Amino acid sequence: MRKTIKNAKIVLGVSAGIAVYKAVEILRLLVKEGADVRVVMSANASKFVTPLTFEALSGNPVYHSLFDSHNSAQMEHIRVAENADLLVVAPATASMLGKMAHGLADDALSNLHLAFKGSVLVAPAMNDGMWEHPAVKKNIDILRSRGVDFVDPAFGELACGVTGPGRLAEPSAILDKVRSYFNQRDDLNGIRFLITAGPTHEPLDPVRYLSNPSSGKMGYAVAEQAKARGAKVVLISGPTYLKAPPGVDIKTCKRADEMNVLVQEHLDHCDVLVMSAAVGDFAPQTLEKEKIKKQGDAGLVLKMVPTKDILLEVAKRNSGKLVVGFAAESQNIVESALEKLKKKNLDLIVANDISAPGIGFQSDSNQVTIIDREEKIENIPLKPKREIADLLLDRILVRLKNPK
Ligand SMILES: Cc1cc2nc3c(=O)[nH]c(=O)nc-3n(C[C@H](O)[C@H](O)[C@H](O)COP(=O)(O)O)c2cc1C
Repeated sequence: MRKTIKNAKIVLGVSAGIAVYKAVEILRLLVKEGADVRVVMSANASKFVTPLTFEALSGNPVYHSLFDSHNSAQMEHIRVAENADLLVVAPATASMLGKMAHGLADDALSNLHLAFKGSVLVAPAMNDGMWEHPAVKKNIDILRSRGVDFVDPAFGELACGVTGPGRLAEPSAILDKVRSYFNQRDDLNGIRFLITAGPTHEPLDPVRYLSNPSSGKMGYAVAEQAKARGAKVVLISGPTYLKAPPGVDIKTCKRADEMNVLVQEHLDHCDVLVMSAAVGDFAPQTLEKEKIKKQGDAGLVLKMVPTKDILLEVAKRNSGKLVVGFAAESQNIVESALEKLKKKNLDLIVANDISAPGIGFQSDSNQVTIIDREEKIENIPLKPKREIADLLLDRILVRLKNPK
């Protein structure tokens, strides 16, 4: 059985960013969850907030000085690292990211990081220019390639007075991510998922394409949660800005027909197919070799042809897989979803109303209706996409256990 967050041993690593004060709130939230938190500070972080604040809130001594006679005698950086389940670095400065990426160890936190063998979660925070600097990006890539997980900074007002990316993610978002390491069920262990996500691009010419505003967040959330619950996941993704969830086998494509080929290729090797991608229904009949030139005031008439209907192709193969479709509709939501469910021989369909503000395509939350093969309709209220993903996986699991 996996560990729960209650009594989990977590190290909160704090480096010297202006968002240090938010680390106090992160600590408070972790302690409230029942975690046993040890705070480790970089040498510079204690210039922003004194170790005493973290000591009082965590109920544990704070390790902040490498060359303190007591800490050094106890080899504190090794002891703390050995006993912990998770290291959370928040805020992580540009400098700390650099040290972690390159294995430098010149203070308490960077030493502990090197001695630590468990999972590492990093929440960076810095000025927008620093965040966008290629050196910082490179360091993040290095850490990601080593399996370090990130809670990316938010876009918003920064301490330097500008608005941009670089603001420490909200403490509640960091707590959510920490929670995902614990309290996890293992109930999808060994089940093979094939999941599609994101939009498709249908090119007109070398520089233009037709697409839709799908962000891919829903499908990525299903992939992430399925993986966290023990499933083997192949994620076929159209073009998105999202990072592949750790441990998920990602295949990327652009056009609907390319996505179809990938799905048909991988179908035999899955137990469940979740088609959450917003696949283009039409593509330009011809792809111009050169950029189409503007001809004065003359308009442009495009002849479009239907793309391959991936779910119909799957249905034709009568593969015996459990198949879940998504329906993004702007009117007659339930009726349209029911029609699609029957026509494409789906086990479940997830319908959402793309005309409602604050949900659907780009949003982090969604409000959906799940309809099953027996036409049972379940309205799910507005929830983060991650929670919707878990609810959907619960419904899939019930059907896998009780095939109809
Ligand atoms: C007022 C102030 C605010 C700062 N805020 C940040 C910040 O948000 N992010 C960052 O990467 N560096 C920030 N810095 C710079 C770091 O403190 C500096 O790079 C330091 O060497 C980092 O030390 P550490 O990473 O070892 O904790 C700030 C510096 C000052 C003086």
